[in-house]
Amino acid sequence: MRYLVTGGAGFIGSAMVGELVRRGERVAVLDDLSTGKERNLAGVLDRVEFHRASITDLEAVNRAARGVDFVIHLAARTSVPRSVQEPLETNAVNVEGTLKVLMGARDAGARRVVYAASSSAYGETPTLPKTEAMPAAPISPYGVSKFTGELYAGVFTRVYGLETVALRYFNVFGPRQEPGSPYSGVLARFLLAAIRGEQPVIYGDGEQSRDFTYVDNVVDATLRACTAANVSGRMLNVAMGTRISLNDTLRVLERITGHKAEARHEAERAGDIRHSLADIGLARELLGYEPKIGFEEGLRRTWEWYRAEYAQP
Ligand code: UD1
Repeated sequence: MRYLVTGGAGFIGSAMVGELVRRGERVAVLDDLSTGKERNLAGVLDRVEFHRASITDLEAVNRAARGVDFVIHLAARTSVPRSVQEPLETNAVNVEGTLKVLMGARDAGARRVVYAASSSAYGETPTLPKTEAMPAAPISPYGVSKFTGELYAGVFTRVYGLETVALRYFNVFGPRQEPGSPYSGVLARFLLAAIRGEQPVIYGDGEQSRDFTYVDNVVDATLRACTAANVSGRMLNVAMGTRISLNDTLRVLERITGHKAEARHEAERAGDIRHSLADIGLARELLGYEPKIGFEEGLRRTWEWYRAEYAQP
């Protein structure tokens, strides 16, 4: 089978590409290297067809999509605070870019598109865990953009008969997640601080919680969604199904590193949600998905990777 992975040089994308190559699939990657890196694909680069271009470039999308069976659409501006700073750019990539990927997949005759949607679509709906039946109520430009992508995917199934599945990922973490930007995911930032012996920063009181999901679980769910029956046109949560506060993640990190991690607190971030927890019953039922790597084990693996990657010689 031929797969196109948009954002394939990114954190989740490179894990996806690595697994596809391991399984002997043919893989094309479309990535503009705006946040992704070729280095993330070290070891598999000679076995993939690499297209360096943005998903906002329709011609490039069409070139990359030629002859494709499955499109795994991960390319996006992924940060909530960045979307607050740059709503237009977030919209151009996440909404218009997604529209172009869907058009490219449709015109290439792809069997299915699996779209990386986001738990941020739920916004501040107070009930936990979040089930797919709850209404979307995003509270950041990022949440709006990712939810809009879902709507487009559903409409492409309905109007053009293109099979699509939207997976709402919940706070993915793991090796190769970029730690060095103010827009980086919180666990990546905590790990880098731990390596440098710096104080981690917590925005707010640290009692906000997330359903942190190790990347291998997400790769597994996504590849299942490419071929599963009876999921086209649907949206499913992909998560661990447990939640932990930021304060508690630091306690787990202390156990792993053997060093104290005392946070410095700064003001809460605009657009942040307070708590997040998924009901993963539907993914279990329809995809046969089971998160195999738990939070602490995932954090341990991630720590080992960062240590090797970022430790000073
Ligand atoms: C994350 C993802 C987003 C995804 C969403 C739902 C990233 C960068 N964002 O958003 O793509 O769609 O989950 O799965 O991966 N925080 C700190 N200190 C820091 C950094 C962050 O306290 O140094 C706090 C934030 O204020 C927030 C929480 O940690 O309360 C999580 O932030 P972040 O890792 O950016 O993720 P989300 O905003 O939840």
